[in-house]
Amino acid sequence: MTLALRDVRKSYGNTVILHGISLDARFGQVVAIVGANGAGKSTLIKILSGAVPKNSGELELDGQKLDLKGPRDAIRQGICTVYQELSLVPELSVAENLLLGVLPRRWGLIAWREARIRAKEILTSIGFGSIDPAAKIRDLPIAKQQMVEIAKALVSTPRVLVLDEPSAVLSGSDLDSLYALVGQLRDKGTLVLYVSHRLKEVLDLADKIAVMKDGRFVAELDPKKATEDDMITLMAGRQIEAIYPDRRKVFGEPTLAVKGLTRAGEFTDVNFSLRRGEVLSVFGLVGSGRSELVETIFGSRRPDSGSISIGGLTKTFHAPVDAIKAGLALITEDRQRTGLVLGLKVGENINLATMHGILLSMVKRRSNAELMINELSIHPKHCKDMAAWQLSGGNQQKAVIAKWLLTHPSILILDEPTRGVDMATRVDIYKKIDELASAGISILMVSSDLTEAVSMADRVLVMRNGRVLKELDAAGTSEDEVLAYAIGGKE
Ligand SMILES: Nc1ncnc2c1ncn2[C@@H]1O[C@H](COP(=O)(O)OP(=O)(O)OP(=O)(O)O)[C@@H](O)[C@H]1O
Ligand SMILES: [Mg+2]
Repeated sequence: MTLALRDVRKSYGNTVILHGISLDARFGQVVAIVGANGAGKSTLIKILSGAVPKNSGELELDGQKLDLKGPRDAIRQGICTVYQELSLVPELSVAENLLLGVLPRRWGLIAWREARIRAKEILTSIGFGSIDPAAKIRDLPIAKQQMVEIAKALVSTPRVLVLDEPSAVLSGSDLDSLYALVGQLRDKGTLVLYVSHRLKEVLDLADKIAVMKDGRFVAELDPKKATEDDMITLMAGRQIEAIYPDRRKVFGEPTLAVKGLTRAGEFTDVNFSLRRGEVLSVFGLVGSGRSELVETIFGSRRPDSGSISIGGLTKTFHAPVDAIKAGLALITEDRQRTGLVLGLKVGENINLATMHGILLSMVKRRSNAELMINELSIHPKHCKDMAAWQLSGGNQQKAVIAKWLLTHPSILILDEPTRGVDMATRVDIYKKIDELASAGISILMVSSDLTEAVSMADRVLVMRNGRVLKELDAAGTSEDEVLAYAIGGKE
């Protein structure tokens, strides 16, 4: 059994996004699609899922032409898709989201107990049994939301499962559950199409890798023979040598100092200080309290005890707006919820955090937006008047960074800054972080990417179960050492 794409083309207006994509995939395979941000991966996937119409070309399942008029047609054919951007209803429970449309009823009323039992069965059968079916989506961390999204696609037992960056927000045991699930589905004869920027996992999981560049498949690689570098070079169209900048070791006076900061159930007695021009990374496994910590520093949450001082003065932030006034910026890990207003133009989004209190003129907003789009190479170049949802995922991430840089913070906090970002774009972001630090800005960076956490930083704080276990000088430590502290192999 096979799925075939023949010369699939897609344009938006005058812009050609897909230039004729052809692919043959067999059932019981994992076929990975890799490519730079904006290459067209998600567009291709939306065509396969019936969410977006193609301009020309053919889709064939088992030799039968597919005429998809909408997502329902695709699902009826057994093609189920997990989109890059989550589509769950935040106010509803896990069970309701999973069973939306097929909720069990008794006497015309929804049978909640049954629904929860059914949801639990589904979650357990795919190895996601740790998720509580009664929990509201909006109360779940983003990693668990992603897993519910995957579970939702599996409710109707797909023949083809399409996953668009399913692992971007996962780490640790959640990642292992995903990999196990993908393996299990392949063994059962499901075709899994898998889009990811995590190139190592692509090599581990895939039976075949299709490399996409500028709307074309430029190579098909055998994961047994290919390397990460091969993929990076093909995706970028050039070799990328230095990924991480050389950090200089000249720092100014302390700017941010945190003493005894505690929030019950999240983190306990956190102490550190950050100097001008310094990059401090916070590494820890999921649930170690990292995001909660930076949100508290930014005034999104209130600490139970402890203090935050900026430039030697103790501060109480009642809301993020107070923190922004004090020179802080926080780039959150959840760009859809707290980063961008998707319906608003990219240019307006970029100005959004700067407009607190002051109303900028139209001309100023426009030039601000153009400046930042250019500085961060947001793609496409003329995207200022596009709606934010029209940008590819990685470019949305850059737009969030642009928005916060425009506030000219003196302390920049980044929570997972390179999530869903391709290697060439990462290099741009790393360069930018380095430039900002060199200009005297203090940078606090939360990262689950061990290499990034060690290579981008001057110092590394390792967190475990809500406590800072160790503070390490980045130049004097290794990834192994940091990981050993994070997982509890070292005290
Ligand atoms: N509805 C739309 N209108 C106009 N342009 C669009 C629309 N949807 C996508 N695009 C453009 O199509 C191009 C490809 O986007 P796509 O989302 O497919 O990229 P991608 O390969 O998935 O990237 P990423 O790795 O960042 O997710 C981008 O330049 C994007 O701005
Ligand atoms: Mg995408």
